[in-house]
Amino acid sequence: MSEEIQKFKVTIDGKTIEVEPGTTILNAARQIGGDIVPPAMCYYSSLKGSGGKCRTCLVEVSKGSEKDPRPMPKLMASCSTTVMDGMEIKNKSSERVVKARGGVVEFLLMNHPLDCPICDQAGECHLQDLAYEHGHSKTRYEFNRREFDKIDIGEYIKLHMTRCILCYRCVYTANQLTEKREHGVLKRGDAAEIGTFIENSLDNEFIGNVIDVCPVGALTDKTFRFKSRVWYTKPMDASCNCDKCSGKAVVWMIGDEIARVTARKDEYGEVKEFICNDCRFNKKDTNQWNIEGPRKIKRHSVISANHYEKETPKHTTLLNKA
Ligand code: SF4
Ligand code: SF4
Ligand code: FES
Repeated sequence: MSEEIQKFKVTIDGKTIEVEPGTTILNAARQIGGDIVPPAMCYYSSLKGSGGKCRTCLVEVSKGSEKDPRPMPKLMASCSTTVMDGMEIKNKSSERVVKARGGVVEFLLMNHPLDCPICDQAGECHLQDLAYEHGHSKTRYEFNRREFDKIDIGEYIKLHMTRCILCYRCVYTANQLTEKREHGVLKRGDAAEIGTFIENSLDNEFIGNVIDVCPVGALTDKTFRFKSRVWYTKPMDASCNCDKCSGKAVVWMIGDEIARVTARKDEYGEVKEFICNDCRFNKKDTNQWNIEGPRKIKRHSVISANHYEKETPKHTTLLNKA
C-alpha cells in the first residue's frame, strides 16, 4: 500500500493551499494562480539550476512554520525557498516587498537602454511589464551606461548585450538542450557579459530556444528583427510533422504570411515543448504548417491586447477563498 505524503499548508497573501513538501514558495503561488504569483525573471521550471539570480521574486515570510512561527528577518527569493507546514507569505500585500521589488527593477534598469520603441521583445517583455508597474519615470543613475556592439551569434541570433539582465537562462538552455554549449557568462561583476568565447557561433539544432527563454530582448531572431511590433501580428497555434521536435509551435502572422515562429508559452512565459531551429527559422510558408486556430494568450501583457479572449488560468481549488 502506498503511503500518502503529508502535505504542507501554506498561505500566500491570504490564500491557503496544500502542497507537497519540497515545493518552492513560487511554485506554491503558481498553484494558486492569479495576482499573488511573484514575478520571475530568471527561474524557469524546465531548466535545472535556474533561479536565484534576479531577485524579482522576493517575498516576505511573515510566519516561518507552525512549529516555529517566527518571521524570517530578510525578504526571501521565492523561487529558491521551499515551503514549511503552516508558512505564511506576503507578496503584493507586503509594503516591504513592493518597495524592494521597485529597487530591484531600478537596478535591472540601471544599465538598460530606452529601447522599448524599437525592441523586438516589446509587448511581451517581462522587464517592460515590471518597469511599468514599479519603475520610476526618472533615473537616479549618473554614470555612463555600459556599451556593447550588437553581435551575431550564429546564423539566426543577434545579441543585444545592453538589454541582457544576466539571468543565465540561455546558458542553462544551451547546457541542457543542446549537445555542446558555446556561450556563457564571461567576466564578473559589472563587467559580466554573455559571450561566445573566441568568436564561436551558436549553431546547435535547438539553440534557437535561447530566444524564447530570454526574458528581455537581448537575444533576437534575425529572421524577424524589426519586421513588425508583436501586437500587429496574429498568433496562431500550428503544428507540423517534424522528426527533430514535437512540431507544435505558434506562427505569428501578418496578413497571410508567417512573420515568425516560436514555441508555445504558458501564462508565466515559459515554453513547455522546445522546438528545433528548422521549425523556428526555416518554415515560414503556410503550406508547411497545419494551422489549428488563434492562440489563446494566457499572459497579462501588451501581447494579449487587441487579439483574442485571454484564457482563464486553471487554478487549483483553494482551501479558503480570500
Ligand atoms: S528588453 Fe524589454 S524593457 Fe528592454 S528595451 Fe526591450 S522591451 Fe524594453
Ligand atoms: S541573454 Fe537573455 S537569457 Fe541570456 S542571460 Fe541575458 S537576459 Fe538572460
Ligand atoms: S526568479 Fe527568483 S531570483 Fe530570479
